[in-house]
Amino acid sequence: MAYRYLWTPLQLGPVTARNRIVFSAHLTNYARDGKPTAQHAAYYAARAAGGAGLIITEEHSTHPTDWPYEKLIHGFHRDVIPGYRAITEAVHRHRVPIFAQINHNGGQASSMYSRLPVWAPSAVADPLFREVPKAVTHAEIDEIIAGYALVAEHCAEGGFDGIELQCSHSSIVRGFLSQATNQRTDQYGGSIENRARLLTEIVAAVRKVIGNRLALGVRLCGDELIEGGTTIDDAVRVAQIAEATGQVDYINTSIGVATASLFMIEASMHIPPGYALFIPSAFRKAVDLPVVGVGRFKDPLQAERALAEGHCDLVGVVRGQIADPDFAAKARAGATDDIRLCLSCNQECVGRMGLNRWLGCIENPRTGREAEPRVAISAKPKRVLVVGAGPAGLQAAIAAARIGHQVTVGEKEAQAGGQVGLGAKAEQRLRPADVGYEAGDAAAFFAVIKAVDGSAGDEFHLVYQIVEIGFYAAADVDDLAVDIHGRCRRDSDKGRRIERSHRSGNHKEFRSRLGNPVTRNAAWSWWLVTSIR
Ligand SMILES: Cc1cc2nc3c(=O)[nH]c(=O)nc-3n(C[C@H](O)[C@H](O)[C@H](O)COP(=O)(O)O)c2cc1C
Ligand code: SF4
Repeated sequence: MAYRYLWTPLQLGPVTARNRIVFSAHLTNYARDGKPTAQHAAYYAARAAGGAGLIITEEHSTHPTDWPYEKLIHGFHRDVIPGYRAITEAVHRHRVPIFAQINHNGGQASSMYSRLPVWAPSAVADPLFREVPKAVTHAEIDEIIAGYALVAEHCAEGGFDGIELQCSHSSIVRGFLSQATNQRTDQYGGSIENRARLLTEIVAAVRKVIGNRLALGVRLCGDELIEGGTTIDDAVRVAQIAEATGQVDYINTSIGVATASLFMIEASMHIPPGYALFIPSAFRKAVDLPVVGVGRFKDPLQAERALAEGHCDLVGVVRGQIADPDFAAKARAGATDDIRLCLSCNQECVGRMGLNRWLGCIENPRTGREAEPRVAISAKPKRVLVVGAGPAGLQAAIAAARIGHQVTVGEKEAQAGGQVGLGAKAEQRLRPADVGYEAGDAAAFFAVIKAVDGSAGDEFHLVYQIVEIGFYAAADVDDLAVDIHGRCRRDSDKGRRIERSHRSGNHKEFRSRLGNPVTRNAAWSWWLVTSIR
């Protein structure tokens, strides 16, 4: 299928998205002490370099009462501005615009970090945090609005091209919009116009601060999927109210409530791609503003189809670009099959957020480590034996070969791939590549797995039908053996050191990650091999 729409630029107020692929907002836990870090800059820059048309950062908190998780960016402190500049400069180097998402999580929070009362429209406890919030007074509403304006000012100073108001799945604005959480009887409760009042007041305050230089977007939830919550008809009306302000440049969409129906926000592999398209579709029929559709677009052809069928104007691809930063560039270069596909497993991205760890990806060991220097070519190439040609062993072999070692991979089965073959048979993983790795990378797993009968090319040699221990003992190698179950056996000093560290803290951290041991081991093996020098 040829791409007709995906690469066309689109105007969002004063900003041009260079194509229709948006890296939409998502938490990363890369912040330190409430401030953005060099890892943020490197992470977003990698996606800009990889061809994204527009980047929207994770949320920045707008008020001290909003601190639901430790590593949140505190946008209300001026000391975030140098970090903002580092991010925007790194992304702009690739001529990609970047917007900041700003937010107050409202009642979807606890007072654990802030030691302040949780603020919400009404005293309705959140199902996850279970803390009864304080219904905000009019003076506190004014404070919330001022907080949004202040953070927008910081973002403008930090070089962002636009602001997105998160009013969707975890937000005080969502709390006001939803009848499930807004029980007010004043001018902020009751009718949809009243419930949307906070939203329009924030829009006006932010626009006043940013003027017409920056774009302003609103992210809305199309269906909260909770009893008594917002459904598509209400959401369409809110989109119209936002448009009627005349101050909004685009509408982003979402589905579900982060603390009640999270499973639909970041849908798993069991939910079909594009499952939430009914939301942008309905918005587009009701408003003229550009609308972003989001929801498990895992390959660019699906994104193109969503545009071609008129469901949306831009497509949010979040986990797709977490797994492969070059998602867009590969598609544009005609190498769609080389994209390292997101599995929608939620193990290292969503899963790690809840564990207070930094965002990674089981498919891509580099995700979350973009700021770390790449391992240099080894000054002293070694003969390295890797025992086991499952994903862990093969990733270890690739990494070692890339830094100049001479690698032999031993596998006692008649075919490489380990549990990948088994996983590929599961429903919803229709293509082997869905469980695996980029096919076009000469040294990557699938190239190797295809070469089942012998040499796997120049970079390393794959040996089958060996008796593992005997082969290992007899092998004439300098360093390291890794087996596919993540156990490391080696009699060199270095091997022993690695084994010890594997058994200690790193091992625990490694083991405690959620999910599939096979792919988990691939990330581990990458780390392991970077320590062979
Ligand atoms: C780890 C993670 C954290 C997220 N955090 C946010 C967030 O802070 N703000 C937001 O609007 N959406 C957030 N999202 C939702 C995404 O923007 C997007 O709607 C969702 O991932 C579905 O898109 P995808 O299937 O392309 O991943 C998050 C998603 C992930 C995976
Ligand atoms: S960890 Fe899983 S769901 Fe998350 S980006 Fe990677 S492959 Fe996708």
